[in-house]
Amino acid sequence: MNAIYRLQAEVLNKEELIPGVFRIKLFSEEISRAAKPGQFVHVACGKGRDFILRRPFSIHRRLSGNAFEILFQVVGRGTEALSEVRLHDFVDVLGPLGNSFEIPPDLSSALLVAGGVGIAPLIFLADELNSRKVRFYAIQGATTQQRLFCYMDLKRLGRQIFATTEDGTAGHCGRATDLIHEVIKKSAPERIYSCGPEGMLKVVADVAAAFGIDCQVSVERRMACGLGACLSCVCQTRDGYRLACKDGPVFRAEELSWKA
Ligand SMILES: Cc1cc2nc3c(=O)[nH]c(=O)nc-3n(C[C@H](O)[C@H](O)[C@H](O)COP(=O)(O)OP(=O)(O)OC[C@H]3O[C@@H](n4cnc5c(N)ncnc54)[C@H](O)[C@@H]3O)c2cc1C
Ligand code: FES
Repeated sequence: MNAIYRLQAEVLNKEELIPGVFRIKLFSEEISRAAKPGQFVHVACGKGRDFILRRPFSIHRRLSGNAFEILFQVVGRGTEALSEVRLHDFVDVLGPLGNSFEIPPDLSSALLVAGGVGIAPLIFLADELNSRKVRFYAIQGATTQQRLFCYMDLKRLGRQIFATTEDGTAGHCGRATDLIHEVIKKSAPERIYSCGPEGMLKVVADVAAAFGIDCQVSVERRMACGLGACLSCVCQTRDGYRLACKDGPVFRAEELSWKA
């Protein structure tokens, strides 16, 4: 079993990418060294015992200087409190947790499909694919241009990146899944990796199955312990229930039982 650390990580940087979406850089030699793409950290938001339950966030990037980043959207009280941290504050972090995206040693091509803030773990993965010289294409979907977070990072790392926006302000007007058939035909990926809203993941899973391509998806569930003890994060799979925090958050698309 991989090491899990609980520590106070210093905030080294904080950016507000657009109102309500933040990227925070945290210092931790242990977590940044141990982290693999797809894993997450469980963060105590607020001060002291403001929140009993931690909140899970994907490891967005591993940075030089023993640091890593999370990228998150404010959706409720926990993320609101986390957005209020200041430079040099210390944040109570548990991690790295969960499994990771599987990258076979002989993988030569891949397709990444990201929806909304689902881009967060895929940037860490894109970095890793790039360093292993895996040629990858990506489709990044968002509601509007401003929300195509890290698009330039993807462009720097990948072979060709396709953007979609629901309001047509950048790239194709529509959803990420509108382009998936066309991009698969063009890029012939050996593997697809995806993270985003569950409806999008289901379409990605269906298309991957139709083309016979291995596909891994990262799913989100509400999580209490993050360690496999409380059963709050169950996912239904074809072989019964599995835990998103311990058996996931990355699953092979075909093993999940998708809601219709
Ligand atoms: C493995 C994992 C990785 C994640 N990575 C990221 C990330 O990189 N960036 C990011 O912005 N968010 C991420 N999330 C979602 C994030 O954990 C939730 O948005 C956060 O916990 C909400 O806390 P809150 O107190 O602000 O919201 P709450 O007040 O608890 O809830 C507000 C709304 O958010 C929904 N919500 C709450 N918790 C979750 C959850 N765990 N999954 C999905 N929806 C939830 C609620 O149903 C509700 O609609 C991740 C979730 C998981 C399980
Ligand atoms: S969050 Fe407790 S078992 Fe998964």
